[in-house]
Amino acid sequence: NSEHVLSSASSPDFVGLAAREHFYVQDDQTFLLTVSVGLPAGDAPVESVQLLVGSSSEVRPMGPAGFLRQLRPGEAREVVQRLKVSDLALGVGQAGISLSLRYRRASGLVEETAVRSMEAILEPARKFVTVANPYSRYSGGTPVEERDMFFGRRELLERIYSEISDGPLGQCFLLYGQKRSGKSSVLRQLEHRLHHPNLPIYLSLGAIDTNEPERSFIQLCIDSLYQKLVFDFDMTDVLEEHWPGQRQVATSPIASFRKSVLASARLLQARKNWRLVRPVFLVDEFTYVFEYIREGLLTPAFMRQWKSLLESRTFDAVLVGQDTMPRFKEAYPNEFGVTHDERISYLSAAEARELAEQPIMLQGESRYKGNSLDRLIRLTAGSPFYLQIFCDRLVQHLNRQRLVFITESVVKDVLRQLVTGHVALSADKFDPLITAAGESVALAPRAQYLALLTRLALRPTASRDVPAGEAPLVQDLLDREVLERGSGGLLLIRVGLFAEWLRANSVGGAG
Ligand SMILES: Nc1ncnc2c1ncn2[C@@H]1O[C@H](COP(=O)(O)OP(=O)(O)O)[C@@H](O)[C@H]1O
Ligand SMILES: [Mg+2]
Repeated sequence: NSEHVLSSASSPDFVGLAAREHFYVQDDQTFLLTVSVGLPAGDAPVESVQLLVGSSSEVRPMGPAGFLRQLRPGEAREVVQRLKVSDLALGVGQAGISLSLRYRRASGLVEETAVRSMEAILEPARKFVTVANPYSRYSGGTPVEERDMFFGRRELLERIYSEISDGPLGQCFLLYGQKRSGKSSVLRQLEHRLHHPNLPIYLSLGAIDTNEPERSFIQLCIDSLYQKLVFDFDMTDVLEEHWPGQRQVATSPIASFRKSVLASARLLQARKNWRLVRPVFLVDEFTYVFEYIREGLLTPAFMRQWKSLLESRTFDAVLVGQDTMPRFKEAYPNEFGVTHDERISYLSAAEARELAEQPIMLQGESRYKGNSLDRLIRLTAGSPFYLQIFCDRLVQHLNRQRLVFITESVVKDVLRQLVTGHVALSADKFDPLITAAGESVALAPRAQYLALLTRLALRPTASRDVPAGEAPLVQDLLDREVLERGSGGLLLIRVGLFAEWLRANSVGGAG
């Protein structure tokens, strides 16, 4: 084996070296050069890889030389070197840089790669243009209303759109998923896309009066419909003529609901010349109903009421809820009736890349260099929420450090800030990955989930080595895509940022 290593070839080289690149030169006439160095899979490892920068009248290396102790086959890593530019080069605004690598092979032999050259376009850091930060708005978790900042989910939206537009009335869609997976955003986008003859009506059970949840739900539906007519169609006289009053809603809720839906349809036909009207109720946070029933705030009769509403076939419904939805449906199979179920999951790698790249392009050029974007995608697992948080911090870092491009070391610095120190993420940011919903419908208390996850982050464990008592929790975490099974059955935390955070904050948390 060692003989094989001694004899096989090793040809490390630069990866993705640009022919021209922009650099912002600081007041001390220096800038940081970052290059990626890779070794093909199948090569023998090399050691003491050193970046050689040719000194010229334009640039010379400053400070410690870019260095890697070891480079393994199939690996690509970043090397950083500070360079000083001459007055002349700065005046001209560009400089040629020649680069090569010196490395030691397993045999002990020291070799150098061929020299590669690149053109550095130099600009004074004073001319640095602040990077606009479209992520800051969403790093707190507000649903995405803007179309430009909404990524992925295209196929899902199209499917729901066409089933609503072409199918019969009375359809019910169930969208569920992790907290912060983007369910409300999908609902908002759907609301913006549903056009005539569809009449989208958005409401959230998060806003319901828990003293009288049953009546309030119907009242909320009726009120939301009313607001739609008044604000979107200017029908300010609706209330006097056609609308059920509060007392009527209290005594005969179902009849009142039906009355308001029919009245809306008639009004749109008579006054706006709509031939067809398809009301679509977009109900957010529907799984609260499950919690309210468990907590005794609602009786199970509520679900029968819901069923008879839907069976009136006067509207469609898109119900959004948390990952408890499948258990909710299991508990009330008849009441839910036939539904189209869709789970909202992580973004695909391509969609995640779009979210990270597009909003901060530099004149059509990506700001991500080397493996930095891959690293970001792996750390977030394509979760749109953690991507927005990470990108927000990346842009802040670029602006603070007056950097134009994101390299692996930038990602590493920002990761460190996110998991430790005074601006680290607080535990509640990871709530979506700990519990699915409120304690009344959870399998175990939050602390128990957290202790289990912390242990898994600290010590890779195969599912067969998890104590039997915790097996249901592990299954729940797998179902909710918090965990995945890696090679050898090892349980892995999908969002790398969370695993790093757990490791960095594990004191006392491991239980
Ligand atoms: N499709 C998306 N594109 C971009 N960002 C998204 C998307 N979906 C979710 N997000 C991010 O996740 C956060 C939570 O989204 P939201 O729709 O409120 O999730 P949920 O309703 O599932 O809790 C948003 O503030 C935003 O940062
Ligand atoms: Mg939501």
